Amino acid sequence: MKKLLSLSVVALLVFALTACGLTPSGNGSDVTSAGKIGVSMPTQSLQRWNQDGSNMKAKLEDAGYTVDLQYAGDNDIPTQVSQLENMISGGCNVLVIAAIDGSSLSNVLESAKSAGIPVIAYDRLIMNSDAVSYYATFDNWLVGTLQGRYIADALKLDSTPGPYNVELFTGAPDDNNINFFFGGAMEVLQPYIDSGKLVVPSKQTSKEQCATTGWNTEASQTRMENLISSNGYGPNGTKLDAVLSSNDSVANGITNALVAAGYTAEDFPIITGQDCDKPTVKNILAGTQAMSVFKDTRTLADQAVNMVDAILQGGLPDVTDTETYDNGSGIIPAYLCEPVVCTTENYKSLLIDSGYYAESDLQ
Ligand code: BGC
Repeated sequence: MKKLLSLSVVALLVFALTACGLTPSGNGSDVTSAGKIGVSMPTQSLQRWNQDGSNMKAKLEDAGYTVDLQYAGDNDIPTQVSQLENMISGGCNVLVIAAIDGSSLSNVLESAKSAGIPVIAYDRLIMNSDAVSYYATFDNWLVGTLQGRYIADALKLDSTPGPYNVELFTGAPDDNNINFFFGGAMEVLQPYIDSGKLVVPSKQTSKEQCATTGWNTEASQTRMENLISSNGYGPNGTKLDAVLSSNDSVANGITNALVAAGYTAEDFPIITGQDCDKPTVKNILAGTQAMSVFKDTRTLADQAVNMVDAILQGGLPDVTDTETYDNGSGIIPAYLCEPVVCTTENYKSLLIDSGYYAESDLQ
C-alpha cells in the first residue's frame, strides 16, 4: 500500500512537472532549458556532417540547452535559408551554422542580427555578413599543407630526381574552406611544380580547374575518368604517381575511377583525403588511399558549445586566431582545432582507441 502510494505520488509529480513544461530531464522544454540553440548542418549525405550534428546536439543537451538541429536536405541552399528563418522566428538564442554556400546567407543573417541572435560559423566561414560573431573550425591551411607535405615526402621529392606525375583536386567552389585546403597544399607543391620535379600532365592547376561541385563523388569520378583517358594513365600506360584530393568524398570518386582503370593496391597512386570517413578508412586499410586528415568532430563540437556557453553567459569565448579569417565584413575571431594525418600506422590510436569508431565499423 505504501509502495502504491509512493508510486502514485511520483506519477502525480511527473504529470505536474510535464504539464508545466518542467520535464524532469530539463531537456524537452524551453522553460527549464538554458536556452534554445539552432544548429544548421549542410547535408546528411556525408558521414562527417551527421557526426557533427549528433555530437553538437548531444553536447548542447548535456549542457542544458534545447536544440533545434536541421540538415538542409542534400546541400540545398533554399532549404538552409528557410530552416534558419524558422530557427529565428522559433526563438533560438544562438545559431550555429555550417553554411553550404558561404555567401548565400547574408539576408537571413540580417534578420538574426535584428533579432539580437548571435551567430557562430561552424567549420566553414560565412562570408559577407556582419552578423557572424565567432568561427569554430580546424586549422584549414594546415589541413592543406599536411596533404601537400604527405605527397612530397611519399614521393621523396627532396631526395630523388623525378619527375613525378600528379593531378590535383579540391572541393566545392562556394566553400570558403577550399581557399585554405588548396592554398595550403599548393604552398607545398608549387615549388616542386615550378622546378619541374612534379609535373601536372593535364596542366589543370588553378583552383577553378581543380574544383569539385558540391564535393560530389560522382563529379570527381567523372573528372578523373576524363583525366585518365586524355592523359593515357593506367597501370600499363602513363604513370600517375599521386593525386591531391582535398577530402574523402572527392578521393572516393578518384579511387573509383582508378580501380576501374585497372589499378590495384600494388600500383595505386598516392591519394590524399580529409575527414577519415568510414569508407575511406577502409580504402586506407585496403591500400587504395594513402592518407586522410583526421578532424575530430567531437573536439570541434566541444569548442562550439564553449562558445555558446560564453556568449549566453555574457563572457568572451576562447579563441586562438584573431587575424586570419576575414569574411568580407571584418575579421571573425576563430578557434582552430588541430587536424592530424591518419594512415595505416596510426589509425588504431586515432580512431579506435579514442572511441571515434569501433573496429567493426571498418570491416
Ligand atoms: C569540410 C570538410 C568536408 C567538406 C565536404 C568542408 O568544408 O571542412 O571536412 O569534407 O566540406 O563536406
